[in-house]
This record gives sequence, structure tokens and C-alpha cells, in this order.
Amino acid sequence: MKAMRALVRPGSTVSGRAPVPGDKSIAHRWLLLAAAARGRSELSGLPLSLDVRSTASTVLDLSPGPQLEVESWIHMKHFRSSARVEGVASRLKPGVSVEGVGRDALREPRGEIDCGNSGTTMRLVAGIVAAAPFRTVLTGDASLLRRPMERVAEPLRLMGAEVATSEGRPPITIGGGPLMAIRYALPVPSAQVKGAILLAALAAEGKTTVLETVPSRDHTERALEFLGAPVTRDEGGVTLGPFQHRGFAGEVPGDPSAAAFLLAAAALTGSEVTVEAVGLNPTRTQFLDVLRRMGVRVDERLARNEAGEPVGELTASGDGRLRGVTIGAEELPGVIDEVPVLALMAAHADGESRVEGAGELRLKESDRLSGLAEGIRELGGDADVQGNALVVEGGGLEGGTTDARGDHRLAMAFAVGALGARGPCQVTGMEWADVSFPGFLDTVQWLGGAIEVAT
Ligand code: S3P
Repeated sequence: MKAMRALVRPGSTVSGRAPVPGDKSIAHRWLLLAAAARGRSELSGLPLSLDVRSTASTVLDLSPGPQLEVESWIHMKHFRSSARVEGVASRLKPGVSVEGVGRDALREPRGEIDCGNSGTTMRLVAGIVAAAPFRTVLTGDASLLRRPMERVAEPLRLMGAEVATSEGRPPITIGGGPLMAIRYALPVPSAQVKGAILLAALAAEGKTTVLETVPSRDHTERALEFLGAPVTRDEGGVTLGPFQHRGFAGEVPGDPSAAAFLLAAAALTGSEVTVEAVGLNPTRTQFLDVLRRMGVRVDERLARNEAGEPVGELTASGDGRLRGVTIGAEELPGVIDEVPVLALMAAHADGESRVEGAGELRLKESDRLSGLAEGIRELGGDADVQGNALVVEGGGLEGGTTDARGDHRLAMAFAVGALGARGPCQVTGMEWADVSFPGFLDTVQWLGGAIEVAT
């Protein structure tokens, strides 16, 4: 990746309407389900984010025959012109056909599968190959090689797969085979682990139940329900029996976690932004409640359903004044990916904000807990880590230079926070934004943000 810096001048406003890339979490799941389906699937709105390209390339690794459209999609270039062009491009939504031959026909990969920076790719693919009668080795970049994998290895072992991790971390080696259903209570709330178990359960004998104390994002369950799988859900969890699904069609909704950055930019700069065609799945929109508590006006308009996922528009507006907020430990799984941008908003609020029980943030693409506290201080604010809590003093950012720490969400959160600063700011490592939101800086510029890009 070519190094990129954002130079942010104070005093601009971010306003207007914009699309965001397709939802990363949904795209990973639909691509893998399409690969394991019997028959062709037609997927559109897939985001050209690096993480989703990683999952698409695992589809090539595991498919017995050619996947010509997936292959050319992986190599497609992102438009680096204006967000308006990106908007038009996303409305045209070129589709990708995925040739599914059924789960049983997946083939042994020729070498190690490279999951890049994407923990979701690694954990979900582990679930898919757990039932396959061959050996799969999953590896990734330096950040992914530091992330915990026993959380997914343990339940897959209980189902009957042979899974070896490297002292709990990747590379993971999976010897797949016949699986038995399990009843499993997630020790940490994780949609990736739940998703991996459910993907394995499609091929297991008996009914698998995954129990969770705090509901995590439910895209896997929704997709399986849409496909007609025997899924039952109640407050405590989800039960699934064996099932071979057919190919399907769907247009991936816009990513609410990407939208959060644009909505926050509007709120911070005293303006209004509407994000179009965005996913409104309630397990993903809990950050809107935090925005409301901070004094932001938020409007959600449901338009339609897409393969079991609600889609509509989101508008946020504010007068630039924000209240400090406490995010409780029980709330955290629902806002886990939005904590970075919420923390930068908190740096501009009146009074102290706290994110409680946030230890899981240490295990993301970077140690987000200390990265956020350090980054806020480097931009001239005041934040600290107290045990597992992130404590942010409001009052605004003076300006300064910080770095994304190889983490896409920190890159974008710092750039958005910088828009509200009293002095100029510089954020290095902006190229990491492409992991989930290619075109992020173009979009913010097009909406009026005074951000210059330097290489
Ligand atoms: C994701 C689940 C979350 C989230 C990640 C995407 C998913 O991770 O942070 O960005 O698509 O399942 P955990 O499952 O580790 O909480």
C-alpha cells in the first residue's frame, strides 16, 4: 500500500448526501455462502474493500472450477475521482456471479489461504472448511497474526474438526471431516465466532445451538433464514440443523459502520449528512442511540428489505455541540466497530465520556484502546486508559499529528475528529482506510471537508 497522509484544516463543514461502500460483514457472509451453495449466485453492491477482496480470494482458493467474475472483481480498481462518480458507480451496482457447486465439492487449497488483514475472513472460512475432507492452512498479515484464534478453534474442535493454532494465534491449520452438532455458549460475544459455528453447523449431524449473553450482529442468521435453512432463534441464541442451500441473489446494503464516520463528521461540524441505501439491521445501528445521547439528531427511514436485511436512509444533524456519554460494558458488542469514531466525538463533547469494559478493543486490527487514547492526546486532546475503560475528557482538540497505527478505523476516526479541531491536524497511515472504506477521503472532501491528501 502506498503511504498517504491527510492534512485537515479547521473550520469546514461536512454536509450533503452520499452513498457508502457495501457492508463488509454482509459481503463476507454472502460470498462464502454463495461459494458453498448449489447453483449460481448473483451478488451486487460488494464493497471493493481489501477485507472483502480477501474473502473473495478464498472463494477462488476453495472453488473446484473457474470463478471468472469473482477473479476479475478482485482485480477491479477503485474509482479515485470524486464521490459523485463513486455514487453513480454504486447505483449501477455491477453484479458478480459466483458459481456454487455445493459444500461437498469444495476443493483442497493449493497453498496457504491468505486472509490479509481480515479477522472475519479467517474465522468464517474456518467454519466453512471444518467439514471439508482436507487440510486448510489460514494465515494473514502481521496484524492478523497477532489476533486470538482459540475462540474459534475451540468450538470447531468440539464439533470434530482437527484445529491447530500457533499458541492461540494464526496460522491456523484445520483438518476437516464429519462434524457433530454442539450446544455452545460463547465465552466472549463475537459475531465472527457465532458465524463460524453456524457455517460449520450446516454440515454437522444434529442441531447446533449457539448461546450468547449479549446479541451480536445477526447477518449469518438472517442470510440462512432467507435461504430457507432450518434456523430457530430466541433471545438467548440460535439453533440450526444441517442444510444445503441453493444459489441466491442479493444487493449488499451500504455499511452502517462506514456511514458512522460521515454522520459523525456532520455532527462535529454542525451540519447535516444523509447516507443513502444503508443497512439498518438493528444489531448494527446501536451507535445511533449513543449519537442521540450525545445530542445529535438522527433520523432512520426504512425503505426495503434485501435478502433478509433492512435497507434505508440515515440522516444525522447537529449544531456542533455534543454531550459527554458513558457506553456501558453490556452495550459494547453492539457498538464495537463505532467506538473509535465515538471516542473522537467524545473528545469534542462537554464533559467526560467513558467506554466501559472495552478490553476486546485491544484485540482488533490494532490495540484500539491505547491507540485511541494516544491518538487523541497527539491531536491535542485528553484521554486515558483506566483498566479496561477508555476515558475521554471533552473540550476539543487543539490540533497535531497522529498515525493510524495500521488500523482502518483509527485512520478514519482521527481524520473525522480532526475536522472539528481548533488547529490543523495531520493523520499519517490514511491508506489503511481502504481496508473497509475505499474512497473515504474523496467522500469527505466531496461533502465539503477541508482535507488535503498527501503521499
Ligand atoms: C464482525 C464482528 C466483529 C466486528 C468485526 C466484524 C463480523 O468482530 O468487530 O469488524 O463481521 O462478524 P468480533 O466478532 O470479534 O466481535
